[in-house]
Amino acid sequence: MRQSAGGWIKCHRLPQRTLLIHAAETSAWTNVQVHMDQMLRHHGDIDAAPGLLDFAVNVCGSRPPAWLRERLIAELDGLGRYPCAAQDAAARAAVAARHGRDPAEVLVLGGVAEGFALLPALAPRSAVVVHPSFTEPEVALCRAGIAVRRVFTDAAHRLQPERIPAEADLVVLGNPTNPTSVLHPAGMVRALARPGRVLIVDEAFGDAVPGERESLAADRRIPGLLVFRSLTKTWALPGLRAGYALGAPDLLARLAAPRPPWPVGTLVLEAVRACSTPAAVAEAGAAAERTVRHREWMASQLADVPGVTVHQPAAAPFLLLRMPGGERVRTALVDAGIAVRRGGTFPGLSPDHLRVAVRPPEIATALVDALRAALP
Ligand SMILES: Cc1ncc(COP(=O)(O)O)c(C=O)c1O
Repeated sequence: MRQSAGGWIKCHRLPQRTLLIHAAETSAWTNVQVHMDQMLRHHGDIDAAPGLLDFAVNVCGSRPPAWLRERLIAELDGLGRYPCAAQDAAARAAVAARHGRDPAEVLVLGGVAEGFALLPALAPRSAVVVHPSFTEPEVALCRAGIAVRRVFTDAAHRLQPERIPAEADLVVLGNPTNPTSVLHPAGMVRALARPGRVLIVDEAFGDAVPGERESLAADRRIPGLLVFRSLTKTWALPGLRAGYALGAPDLLARLAAPRPPWPVGTLVLEAVRACSTPAAVAEAGAAAERTVRHREWMASQLADVPGVTVHQPAAAPFLLLRMPGGERVRTALVDAGIAVRRGGTFPGLSPDHLRVAVRPPEIATALVDALRAALP
């Protein structure tokens, strides 16, 4: 793998076995490839080792609410049958009603991560991923042998549309963005659409923004737009894997082409229905308002810790911090029983960056105290 000054990364499809053989031979080229892959495949759950107080994973709470668990439990007897077209249609209809769209414009996913894994099916010739951001789109494309161009935000992590080359036929970005917590203006994102371009907006945390401000989920007029939504964060369902894509039916069909039959299970379809009702959407909205209050409390407390810079404005249920010796601080936090997400594996960030999930003050105070102790 080589990275030129222009930011192109050349990725080659290498079966895992080949990678291992090459690594054993200490091929420098392959070692770089393996290392890069490991970096991009690093997610908060790896930092959140068992027993640690978890600020590394951006899931709200430790398990789904009681009413959602009951809906899932009620479906258990149905696991004796294959999921059917009627169940899929019901889930898509529920999502469509929630976002004011047509059921044909909905594709139920096993989490947004599955949507990213399907990106190679779009066969882009010129793919752009905006960084820093969630790294799975780049992993999926690179592993399929598709070259990815990294386009970086500015120093304040704001989108710089003029940096995206006109010839890009696939552009992927997050809104709000993980890990920076920056929410790009909808108009600016919308303006990235072009004839012949697929624009993927990862709104995995869109429901954590009050009023779903700047979301394009309901926007049916933008050609080539695919919006990815996750249900795993707000509803504490990462173990279930549930989400969906919104977009034109022909585009969704291209994305879904490589999927096996019954790509998502009965419980996922039920969760998608349950989380799309007006009552669930209202509950998510109330949680989003709570998150704002908790984030403001955390941001002000953390900003008071000498050496800590909190990236602002923040709009997601996490904060990006910067401090000298970030990796040493992270290790000290682990010793104090606290997990935070390391920042150095995100393209465009450094080991001095740490990402912390927003938690209520009664929990977050432990992080503030431990940071104070860890920083000289
Ligand atoms: C920005 C972003 N997008 C997508 C995902 C994947 O979400 P899901 O659990 O729906 O696969 C994550 C998970 O951390 C994320 O942070």
